[in-house]
Amino acid sequence: MPPPFTDNPQKCVVRELWDTPLLCYFHTRYGVRYRYFGLPGVDLIDVRLWRDMIDEVVAFEPPGSDGGRRAAIDALRSNMKKYGIRGTAYWGSFEEVVLLRKDYDGVDYRQNSVVTLYNLDFCDEISSPISTRERGRKVRRFEAIRHVLRDQVECFQREGGPQHFVLMLTVRSQINADKIKSFLTPGTMQGDAKRFREECSKILAIPDGRSPLVGTHSWALKTLLFNSLSSYFGNPNISAVFFPQLMYQGTKTRIPRAGGGIDYLASPMLHWLVLCRFGDMETPTASCFPLQYLWSASVEVDGRANALRWAPQTGEVAQGAGLPDSVAWLKRFGGSVLAGLREGVGTRARQL
Ligand SMILES: C[S@@+](CC[C@H](N)C(=O)[O-])C[C@H]1O[C@@H](n2cnc3c(N)ncnc32)[C@H](O)[C@@H]1O
Repeated sequence: MPPPFTDNPQKCVVRELWDTPLLCYFHTRYGVRYRYFGLPGVDLIDVRLWRDMIDEVVAFEPPGSDGGRRAAIDALRSNMKKYGIRGTAYWGSFEEVVLLRKDYDGVDYRQNSVVTLYNLDFCDEISSPISTRERGRKVRRFEAIRHVLRDQVECFQREGGPQHFVLMLTVRSQINADKIKSFLTPGTMQGDAKRFREECSKILAIPDGRSPLVGTHSWALKTLLFNSLSSYFGNPNISAVFFPQLMYQGTKTRIPRAGGGIDYLASPMLHWLVLCRFGDMETPTASCFPLQYLWSASVEVDGRANALRWAPQTGEVAQGAGLPDSVAWLKRFGGSVLAGLREGVGTRARQL
């Protein structure tokens, strides 16, 4: 299990200068409120920042490796009470609880209302296999994300509810070369993703072998993410606006040295944000915006200025003037995905 989360200045920039303005924009302009599903960590920093816009929290926290197996989940539950945050904290990895339908306390997991804000805020790789309490069984993050989206669709069809939701996903910018190669085989890829992969491979190929690619091949992870999500969205018909890939340095990982002392390992991170809308069932296909998203420039945190700046990566084209701004991006590319949200509908009961 990952070590306990500690906040850092770059993560604050992502939360406060990228995510918050967008969430506040939906809230103030369309009167929307959120049902949060994700990984707030013991201190609930994101939930506390957004608490005036959040009605309910569905949280996950796995057993700890040090400080006691129950320490983190107990602290999370007690902090939810302390801060008056309504909701449920499941004990177990998100993947395990969602796929096995039970947490470590034996509490059943079932989705009863549409989630309007996912914050899948991982500390490790997108491809990390997750051990479960079922002997030898490991589950995969993508499998769980696909499952969660399927639950969401079924819940929407069964219960009705808000047509839009925000999906945020954060992972370490790291993956083994052989693994990403196998994930990006042309047969499994859709048009744009296949083309982007071909172009990027000519500029910065994925090396042979199993070596970990740490912070170097964001193009490959972006392609994997886009290809996977857009294929999950295709059935049944979720339209989406993808926001620029955001890169930042997470809290360094402490590695105890064999002979004593501690090494600190850099933690390059990738953060994606997607606005999704359940399509009308009669519409033939779902659409993803902006067109040619994969070629659009990434954004990075400028650690000195505690600000955001454009940072085109392999295969991406430079962005025009102006600083990166999530609300400006929405206004430019939100178009049809925003349909159904009505300005000035500011009732407390409305969710995104
Ligand atoms: C990056 S921190 C959360 C930070 C928080 N969202 C914020 O904005 O401050 C991730 C939290 O989720 C927990 N976590 C990591 N991987 C997890 C998983 N697969 N399932 C459930 N929780 C996980 C970690 O122990 C940590 O408390």
